[in-house]
Amino acid sequence: MQRLAGKIAIVTGAASGIGAASAQLFAEEGARVLAVDRAGSAIDSVHAGREAIVPLARDVTDAEAPADIIGTAIQRFGALDILFNNAGVSANALAEVMTDAQWSRTLDVNVTAVFRMCRQAIPALRERASKVGRARIINTASVMAFDTDYGLAAYCASKAGVAGLTHTLALELGKFNITANYICPGAIQTGMTAASFANADIAAIWAKKAALRRLGKPIDIARAALLLASDEADFITGHGLVADGGLTLRT
Ligand SMILES: NC(=O)c1ccc[n+]([C@@H]2O[C@H](COP(=O)([O-])OP(=O)(O)OC[C@H]3O[C@@H](n4cnc5c(N)ncnc54)[C@H](O)[C@@H]3O)[C@@H](O)[C@H]2O)c1
Repeated sequence: MQRLAGKIAIVTGAASGIGAASAQLFAEEGARVLAVDRAGSAIDSVHAGREAIVPLARDVTDAEAPADIIGTAIQRFGALDILFNNAGVSANALAEVMTDAQWSRTLDVNVTAVFRMCRQAIPALRERASKVGRARIINTASVMAFDTDYGLAAYCASKAGVAGLTHTLALELGKFNITANYICPGAIQTGMTAASFANADIAAIWAKKAALRRLGKPIDIARAALLLASDEADFITGHGLVADGGLTLRT
């Protein structure tokens, strides 16, 4: 039995890394997926040949993006069960020298766009939940929602923002049978970390920090998203699911 049979999902940041793996896994589990990423990303080619995945090139921070994206899902598939806000960026600069542009872009993509996407999707999710009994919001945060590292002021602020936003959505939307949860990935080998982990010493340090002694793969986080998207997660809401291989167990 496919775990997302008949569901309709939106996945953002779906051209690479966690988003690409999630779009693929959701489709394998029976969902039809609107896979969103920036123009200029690999979004138009990476899912080629997969009939259940419809690519859409949009920057989630554009003013019209939420209406366009949710509208396209409804137009193509007729409803929306799962909104997975996963697109994200990271700016690395010490606070003392971080520019306004670095700060704003990180907050705009990682938390403001997530809020605007959720706000736009709520009526469609409510309608779907009233008919089928459930709907889902899943947001990608990070272990940096509660931990930190040098240079990550904007990134950490944005991911803590995702956590706070998602807690509040969970509270407000529970009565409509909409769950809202966020995932806190640890160190995952994706486009975002490719430059760092290309350095074997850096990759080895991060792998060694984790209890499971390895870096995460996109599929590790896609499986966490699948769990939260599935019907089995009906009573889980407002939860931050840490999927880090034990990276953050120790102080
Ligand atoms: N890789 C890690 O170690 C790690 C750890 C914790 C959290 N995360 C989070 O996981 C999420 C996915 O990142 P990833 O690691 O798969 O990196 P990635 O770079 O491989 O994928 C991120 C995708 O988001 C897209 N994106 C960025 N800005 C966008 C925008 N404005 N509009 C549309 N799409 C946009 C990118 O084009 C890219 O395809 C992010 O939210 C990231 O912060 C990653």
